[in-house]
Amino acid sequence: MMAEAAHRLGVKLIPLDPEGKASPAGQVAELAVEGSFRDPEKINELASLCDILTMEIEHVNCEILEELEGRGVRVEPSSRTVRTIQDKYLQKQHMVESGIAVGDFMDTPTEQDVAKAGERWGYPLMLKAKKLAYDGRGNAVVKDAAGVSEAFAKLGGKDLYAEKWVPFTKEVAIMVVRSDGGETAAYPLVDAVQLDSICHTTLAPADVGAALAEQASALASKAVASLWGAGIFGVEMFLTPEGDVLLNEVAPRPHNTGHYTYEACECDQFENHLRAILGLPLGGTRLRVGASMMLNVLGNGDMAETKALMSKALAIPGAALHWYGKAEARKGRKMAHITFCADTMEELRARVAPYGLLQDGAPQ
Ligand code: ADP
Ligand code: NA
Ligand code: MG
Repeated sequence: MMAEAAHRLGVKLIPLDPEGKASPAGQVAELAVEGSFRDPEKINELASLCDILTMEIEHVNCEILEELEGRGVRVEPSSRTVRTIQDKYLQKQHMVESGIAVGDFMDTPTEQDVAKAGERWGYPLMLKAKKLAYDGRGNAVVKDAAGVSEAFAKLGGKDLYAEKWVPFTKEVAIMVVRSDGGETAAYPLVDAVQLDSICHTTLAPADVGAALAEQASALASKAVASLWGAGIFGVEMFLTPEGDVLLNEVAPRPHNTGHYTYEACECDQFENHLRAILGLPLGGTRLRVGASMMLNVLGNGDMAETKALMSKALAIPGAALHWYGKAEARKGRKMAHITFCADTMEELRARVAPYGLLQDGAPQ
């Protein structure tokens, strides 16, 4: 999607991906580098072909980005941002130092430390791998003192830290774009419904009331302003029963909870990311429809069945499909998303409801 936006802007984008030209971005771009985004040689090769390096995943090799910056190559957002964010524990420490509200957390290098966290906060608590986590992989819920060993073993070998359980009433998210001059602009707040720790649907605008939406937007903007470099950022937050907003985590890149912007906002997250890193004027972040819903399409192991859902969805007025072009529909893999738009949320729900696209636990 970033490659599509680049083409619209008259910019050549070259992706680095293990599948090269066959990757989702490679299918759209003119040229692709085949290789790992953790391989210094491949990142160097990419850098030699580009004026600006950017990323759509934070689990890249940060050392090489730092080295390239030292040689005068532009990396956006800055490697300092990537380094801070790719370690969730470091990220949380940074946010506390920047005056951002986050839940309690503590370092737990040993199993005994996890038990100490349990004594301090009670159970359940959330054990998290500091690095390389996504879609809930890297997290383990510790239900009670007896579950400490098992959770610790499940995430075995990794550097871990613990978070106090947040009994959130809702998860919300917001995209914030940051220009190369450090100016930020926030998109609308969305309801982010997770199923099994994977984003299932987003609803925009979030159904939280103007005051909370404003509070969340201010928190997210402050968090992004505390980082370094240009680009788009996805900010995940919790609403607490006490009516507070807590930051969960920030992604230094286009984000699943920002996919709806393509159909629903003045300028989509991918184009705005490119505008930001290219030093172009930022695009508008306002909604241009009354209501939108984004639904992730996960692989179920069978390509034909996964695709069948799509034709069903396209029968709905106001539905738009983004098929990523991944070769295999492995179970749980993000294969596509569908965005639905309507004038009102009531109209949207009425349009979508008859098609049985929404699973249990998601908004119906
Ligand atoms: P990932 O990097 O996989 O997105 P997150 O840290 O965002 O991991 O956690 C995934 C999901 O787990 C969150 O969206 C939320 O539903 C739940 N979660 C994370 N941290 C906590 C917490 N401290 N308390 C309760 N639920 C949490
Ligand atoms: Na994450
Ligand atoms: Mg997350």
